[in-house]
Amino acid sequence: MDILRKALLSILVFLFCIFWLNNALSLNTVNQCLVCHESNGDKPAMLFKKDIHYKMGITCADCHGGNSKSDDMEIAMNKRAGFIGIPKGDDISGMCAKCHSNPDVMKRYHSELPTNQLEMLKTSVHGKLSITGKENLLQCITCHNAHGIVPVKDKASPVHPSNVINTCGSCHSNAKFMRAYNPALPIDQAEKYRTSVHGILHAKGDSKVAVCTSCHGSHDIRQKSDLKSKVYKTNLPSTCSVCHSNSEYMKEYKIPTNQYDKYTHSVHGIALFEKHDISAPVCNDCHGNHGATPPGLESISKVCGTCHAMNADLFSSSPHKKAFDEHKYPECETCHGNHEIITATDQLLGVDKNAVCSRCHSESQNTKGFKVAKNMRMLIDKLEKAEKRAIDLVHEAEQKGMEISEAKYKLKDAHQARLEARTMVHSFNLGKFQNVVNTGLVTTSEITSEAGLAVKDYYYRRYGLGIASLIITILVISLYKIIRRIEKKQKS
Ligand code: HEC
Ligand code: HEC
Ligand code: HEC
Ligand code: HEC
Ligand code: HEC
Ligand code: HEC
Ligand code: HEC
Ligand code: HEC
Ligand code: HEC
Ligand code: HEC
Ligand code: HEC
Repeated sequence: MDILRKALLSILVFLFCIFWLNNALSLNTVNQCLVCHESNGDKPAMLFKKDIHYKMGITCADCHGGNSKSDDMEIAMNKRAGFIGIPKGDDISGMCAKCHSNPDVMKRYHSELPTNQLEMLKTSVHGKLSITGKENLLQCITCHNAHGIVPVKDKASPVHPSNVINTCGSCHSNAKFMRAYNPALPIDQAEKYRTSVHGILHAKGDSKVAVCTSCHGSHDIRQKSDLKSKVYKTNLPSTCSVCHSNSEYMKEYKIPTNQYDKYTHSVHGIALFEKHDISAPVCNDCHGNHGATPPGLESISKVCGTCHAMNADLFSSSPHKKAFDEHKYPECETCHGNHEIITATDQLLGVDKNAVCSRCHSESQNTKGFKVAKNMRMLIDKLEKAEKRAIDLVHEAEQKGMEISEAKYKLKDAHQARLEARTMVHSFNLGKFQNVVNTGLVTTSEITSEAGLAVKDYYYRRYGLGIASLIITILVISLYKIIRRIEKKQKS
């Protein structure tokens, strides 16, 4: 009996100890801010249970200050215990930066995240002051929330691709808000985005397509005219190619992944990257910015026509316009390609093996086009030869020191005619083409005759000079002989 009582007692003591210990320990580890706020049904407390910071053992007090170990409101939320209440303005980002911009603190949590978010945000387009002039336009919580923060790869994050359109759109689609900052800035990005191939797939739940942040960045977003912007002309092709050149990433979509490669070797890519000609098109000039879609069959000549206006106009009123629409041939692309467009040469024209015309025109098929192609090529070859001869003659006359500045000036007109003829190909009309070529041929023949005359003149003068020199030489010699004779006479 005694033993039984003793055993019971020690079990009780033991249980009491455990209870006491547990209570004491939990008083120290339990986040009393959370406990009390949760029991009040406060939203921040409810959200905090899902927060990455909660999972890392971070408490309400790590952000708000105060004493998280006390269950007494007065003690817990005492200013003397460092309680700061609700942060306002730039103190909000400052609160986050206390850890996120401090590598030592982040290392304590074994975190390998970058620690540059605030620094980048400050130099970004969003780093400017808000309309009140008191604080920055964006704080960390504008994009990440204050409570219930989850890793950015979590589908619930406001910056996850599935939600980021709305996060950015909350300002950028709000006309009233945006007008206050920059009335000139369009507010149609999200709207246009929804009509793009990216946006359509996105609406179906595809989070691999491009979203605002894949093209613009996150903390370091810059104005489109900023040289460092991901959408600045010379940076844009690499921005798109992060996905479009990654065959592994794009595997499931079964579309080519060679656009960037081809583009950099095209006449446009070379113009941009090697000749630093920023009038050359990049991906978004042809595909649009927010409506990134492949240009439709009919719209291709419009896209190219924004720069090559003459070619597009001529094409539209050519017999090919109707024929191509009927056959669903993409307009300029059929003959020039899209990403791999190379310098056009006369070899493209005509009925040789390498000529584009012979793909569809032959002696037995679409014969009228065949004849036109053949004649056009003949004419342009003739003009080229005539121009070459004119250049050679002008060069020769110049080397011989003849005055031919007028003929030389006309060479420019001849060259211009040849350029015009190359463009006039797109009328696919032999008569119009011939007119331009003829103007060129008239000019070249004028140059050829003027330069030819100059060269003749040169030889004529040289011939004349030769005779004159001969006469002078004979005169000098006879004069010399006469003098010698006179001298001999005087001596004798
Ligand atoms: C025992 C309950 C209790 C505890 C413990 C407690 N709070 Fe509160 N807290 C409240 C109540 C109730 C309010 C609202 C009363 C008010 O507006 O002053 C409040 C208000 C707040 C506010 C808003 C302040 C404002 O200016 O409106 C913050 C922030 C806050 N608490 C954070 C904390 C943090 C951080 C801790 C722990 C260090 C904590 N609380 C501990 C009950 C508690
Ligand atoms: C990661 C930092 C962080 C943590 C952790 C945090 N808060 Fe906050 N809290 C903020 C910020 C920032 C604001 C200001 C939000 C705003 O201006 O919209 C805020 C605002 C509040 C507010 C007032 C406004 C509101 O949303 O109702 C209360 C109350 C509050 N927090 C309570 C808590 C409690 C309770 C906890 C712990 C369960 C907690 N916070 C944890 C950063 C934090
Ligand atoms: C304009 C919206 C925006 C603002 C403002 C913003 N972030 Fe972010 N943040 C993002 C996006 C988008 C990502 C995801 C980036 C990615 O996937 O590469 C991100 C990622 C992060 C990450 C994950 C690691 C990393 O750097 O990619 C951390 C941590 C982070 N942000 C903290 C902050 C802090 C701290 C602030 C305030 C100084 C802040 N963010 C302000 C949009 C924002
Ligand atoms: C007490 C230090 C501390 C404070 C204050 C703090 N954080 Fe964190 N934060 C962390 C740690 C630690 C992680 C987890 C890091 C990891 O997983 O590598 C984290 C993670 C994050 C992540 C998820 C990053 C990811 O993995 O994708 C975001 C977003 C974030 N914090 C934003 C904020 C914002 C916004 C604030 C201010 C309202 C803030 N943090 C305040 C320490 C802090
Ligand atoms: C497929 C890439 C891509 C996506 C996705 C994208 N943008 Fe853009 N954005 C661009 C390009 C390219 C420009 C313009 C560059 C230029 O005109 O030189 C631009 C320009 C802008 C501009 C400057 C004003 C304007 O409209 O020309 C804003 C603001 C902008 N984008 C916001 C957004 C927002 C918000 C989203 C998400 C709804 C978004 N963008 C999605 C590529 C993209
Ligand atoms: C709090 C509102 C707000 C949010 C949220 C916001 N922005 Fe902005 N953003 C602005 C304002 C205001 C400007 C214009 C600044 C100016 O021109 O004075 C701007 C400018 C820009 C520009 C530069 C446009 C140009 O002139 O070329 C881009 C790009 C941009 N934001 C993209 C984004 C993206 C992407 C997101 C989401 C990750 C985002 N913004 C979230 C308010 C916001
Ligand atoms: C985050 C990755 C990503 C980025 C960045 C991106 N895209 Fe895409 N894009 C995709 C995916 C995924 C598809 C879907 C492929 C499909 O059409 O099935 C797609 C589709 C397209 C299509 C339609 C292709 C077709 O015929 O179906 C075009 C055109 C396009 N993107 C152009 C661009 C341009 C231009 C840029 C840069 C301004 C860009 N993309 C940036 C991922 C991206
Ligand atoms: C000179 C105009 C032009 C430029 C520059 C351009 N594209 Fe295209 N792109 C086109 C045309 C035209 C098509 C074909 C549309 C069709 O036939 O339906 C196309 C098709 C595409 C497609 C669909 C798949 C395919 O290859 O047919 C993708 C994806 C694409 N382009 C991405 C890009 C990217 C990324 C860049 C920049 C590196 C770029 N484009 C530059 C005109 C252009
Ligand atoms: C944003 C303006 C722009 C757009 C859009 C554009 N181009 Fe060009 N293109 C240029 C410029 C500039 C050059 C001159 C490059 C050089 O020779 O230095 C050029 C050169 C060419 C050439 C070579 C010209 C020659 O003398 O041999 C061809 C062919 C061509 N483009 C076809 C197209 C086609 C087809 C499209 C539509 C799919 C297109 N371009 C869209 C600006 C543009
Ligand atoms: C049926 C085939 C065909 C189509 C369709 C076509 N082209 Fe051409 N293009 C040619 C040929 C052939 C030449 C070369 C002419 C030469 O050098 O003799 C050429 C030359 C050019 C040149 C260089 C000469 C110049 O005008 O500066 C440009 C630019 C050009 N094309 C743009 C376009 C554009 C833009 C379109 C669509 C509106 C288009 N082409 C449609 C066959 C075509
Ligand atoms: C992709 C196929 C294709 C290519 C390439 C092509 N054509 Fe055509 N062309 C057609 C079709 C189809 C017609 C309409 C049928 C017809 O009238 O023979 C046509 C009609 C014509 C016509 C009008 C004939 C008439 O009956 O009035 C001329 C001229 C012509 N092409 C010249 C050319 C020249 C020059 C080239 C090369 C620069 C060329 N075509 C390249 C398909 C093509």
